[in-house]
Amino acid sequence: MKPTILVTGGNGQLGFELARLETAFPQFTFVFTDRTTLNIASKDDVLKAFEQYQPAYFVNCAAYTAVDKAETEREAAASINADAVGIIATYCQQHRTQLIHVSTDYVFNGKGTSPYLPDDPTAPLNYYGQTKWEGEQLALKACSNSIIIRTSWVYSEHGNNFVKTMLRLMGQRPELNVVSDQVGCPTYARDLAAAIMHIITVTHSGETLTQGGIYHYSNSGVISWYDFAVGIRNIAGLSCQVHPIPSSAYPTPAARPSYSVMDLKKIQDVYGVPVVPWENSLKECINRLNASL
Ligand SMILES: NC(=O)c1ccc[n+]([C@@H]2O[C@H](COP(=O)([O-])OP(=O)(O)OC[C@H]3O[C@@H](n4cnc5c(N)ncnc54)[C@H](OP(=O)(O)O)[C@@H]3O)[C@@H](O)[C@H]2O)c1
Repeated sequence: MKPTILVTGGNGQLGFELARLETAFPQFTFVFTDRTTLNIASKDDVLKAFEQYQPAYFVNCAAYTAVDKAETEREAAASINADAVGIIATYCQQHRTQLIHVSTDYVFNGKGTSPYLPDDPTAPLNYYGQTKWEGEQLALKACSNSIIIRTSWVYSEHGNNFVKTMLRLMGQRPELNVVSDQVGCPTYARDLAAAIMHIITVTHSGETLTQGGIYHYSNSGVISWYDFAVGIRNIAGLSCQVHPIPSSAYPTPAARPSYSVMDLKKIQDVYGVPVVPWENSLKECINRLNASL
């Protein structure tokens, strides 16, 4: 029998990209679920999924990702990003299922000056980051072998994200202001999905031993949102003028870290996950978006 990979949040950016990779991994059976078929905040739904599918791998892509709304919708954010992750990890421990859970750079306060290591102290600036941090802790407490992958600035052809918003606005307006004092690194959801499948493949084949804990994954390079917007404009061949502005000129309900660059060495050293420069992935995404027009 082929081992089963159960994916939650199948309609989100990352879940969608994992589904696109399914045919490249015929050695596994994939089960993609969404909020209607597996609400991770429902203990019953989670238990039923473990009993029905007996997954070898549980990839939790489901999350409450509305960063600003989380400031007011605190109960929903905590229940999905923290409590549900603890429950999933408890069942993973009981069923000997390998949990791969996705977290965020927003666990850091952004006051660092060199790339954050997975074990660096955390101090989330906003409630979303706080709930994601709690989810990490609950996962590791319930199942110490959990693999937690923190990522940042996720975009793809699917769903809502910075790249698609910029392309839309740049097509409508002659100029745009974009924050230039927050730096980090974008992550193409397709690359993150490939990184997850890389980890599953090398551990499943026995080529690499599973090592639980916290890992960082993004594309490589360090840029501001302004740099990212300029890159999007140039690759897409648009003429919109982009102006750098400070975060103070663009207030949001949730504070964002000014520096959220993560050190990617651990995931490369332990699992040999390849890291792709951000420009290459952005080109690929924009090409795919253009091809789908
Ligand atoms: N997006 C980013 O920039 C970013 C940055 C850092 C880390 N991350 C992390 O990366 C992971 C993947 O993010 P993403 O960009 O793919 O997010 P996304 O596109 O917002 O997808 C999240 C998915 O989770 C689903 N979901 C929400 N509550 C659920 C529930 N109770 N049960 C089942 N499904 C539920 C959502 O469904 P609905 O559409 O029905 O709500 C959505 O399809 C998340 O853990 C996120 O925290 C994302």
